[in-house]
Amino acid sequence: MKAISIGLLGLGTVGSGVVQIIKNHQDKLMHQVGCPVTIKKILVQNLIKTRPVEIEAGLLTNNADDILLDEEIDVVIEVMGGIDATKDYLITALRQGKHVVTANKDLMALHGSELLTVASEYGCDLFYEASVAGGIPILRSLVDGLASDRVTQMMGIVNGTTNYILTKMSNEGRSYDEVLKEAQALGFAEADPTSDVEGLDAARKMAILATLGFSMHIDLEDVKVKGISGVTEDDIRYGKQLGYTMKLIGYAHREGEKVEVSVAPTFLSDNHPLASVQNEYNAVYVYGEAVGETMFYGPGAGSLPTATSIVSDLVGVVKNLRLGVNGKSAVTPQYPKQLKDDNE
Ligand code: NAP
Ligand code: HSE
Repeated sequence: MKAISIGLLGLGTVGSGVVQIIKNHQDKLMHQVGCPVTIKKILVQNLIKTRPVEIEAGLLTNNADDILLDEEIDVVIEVMGGIDATKDYLITALRQGKHVVTANKDLMALHGSELLTVASEYGCDLFYEASVAGGIPILRSLVDGLASDRVTQMMGIVNGTTNYILTKMSNEGRSYDEVLKEAQALGFAEADPTSDVEGLDAARKMAILATLGFSMHIDLEDVKVKGISGVTEDDIRYGKQLGYTMKLIGYAHREGEKVEVSVAPTFLSDNHPLASVQNEYNAVYVYGEAVGETMFYGPGAGSLPTATSIVSDLVGVVKNLRLGVNGKSAVTPQYPKQLKDDNE
C-alpha cells in the first residue's frame, strides 16, 4: 500500500502532539497499517511563530486549499477549532474524497449529523474520538464495546480545565483566576475558556456521549448547563469541611423515550470515586442494562493524550481503506430523534 498522506489543520497544543506521535511512533503505525504515514502540509495562521515541535521547511501553509484541494492528501486531521469556517473546510475535504479525523466537539455537537451524512455520501470516514474525554477511548467503547447493551445512564467529569481548577482550588486553596491561567498555559483550556468554565464544553461532550450512548440524536440546546464561574473559594472550603468535594458533573439519563442531559457543579461525598479524579483527568460512568456499571478514566485534555485518540482514529481510517469500508464503519451513528431502537 502506498504511504498515507496527511493534511493537518492546526498546529497548536493538539496538532503538535499529532506531529510528535506520527514521528515517534512510525514503527507502531507501520505495524498497524502496513505503510508509512506522512504529514504533507500543515495549516496555521502564523507562518513565522516558533513551534514546540520541529517542522520541516515548506510544510506550513496559511492557505487551506493547499490541503483541501491537494489530490495526494488522503486524510485531513482537523485540530484548529472553530465552527463555521471549519465546517466548510471539512465539507470541502469530504467532497474531495478525503477522510477526516477531528477533535472538534463544538462542531460535532452542533453539526455532527450533517457532516456525517456528507461523509457517508462521499464514502469517507469521519472519526471524532478525541472530541470527548481527550485520551480516553470512550466513543468507540460506547459504540463498539457496548454495542449489544442498552445504555441507560452516563455520569462523569468530561472537562479537564474545570476539573483542574476545582482540584487546585480545593487541594491548594488557590484562587480561581490564578488556576484558570495555569490551565490555559498548560494547553487544557479552549481558545476562549468561557466555554470551559461556563460548562458549554462539557455540555457539547455530553450531547455527543448521549447521542452515541442512547442511539438517538440529542440537541445541544436540550442540555441544561451551569458552569463553575460562580463557584467561590468559600463554597469549596465549606463543602470540604462537611466531607464534600465540588466537581463539574455531566449527567445523562434515559428512561424509555425520555432523555435528560445536564451539566452542573455538584458536591460529591469525599468517598465517591469521582471525587478522587484530579487535575485534567476525566472519568465517566456508563450504566448498561446488561453490563451494569462500567467506568472510563484517563487524561481528558492535553497534547499527547488527545493526539493519541486522533492518531488511533487515523489508524482506523487506514485499516478501513485496506478493507474498502470507509464511510460504513462505527462511531458514526447520529440517529434522528424519531428513529428509536426497534424493540422499544
Ligand atoms: P490551539 O492550541 O489554539 O491551536 C489551534 C491551531 O489552529 C493553531 O496552530 C492555529 O494556528 C490554528 N488555527 C486556528 N484557527 C485557524 C485558522 N482560521 N486558519 C488557520 N489556522 C488556524 O488549540 P488546541 O488546544 O490544539 O485545540 C484544537 C482543537 O482540539 C479544538 O477544537 C479543541 O476543542 C480540541 N481539543 C483540544 C484539547 C486540548 O487539550 N487542548 C483536547 C481535546 C480536543 P497558529 O498556531 O498559527 O495560531
Ligand atoms: N478544553 C477541554 C477541556 C479540552 O478542558 O476538557 C479537552 O476537550
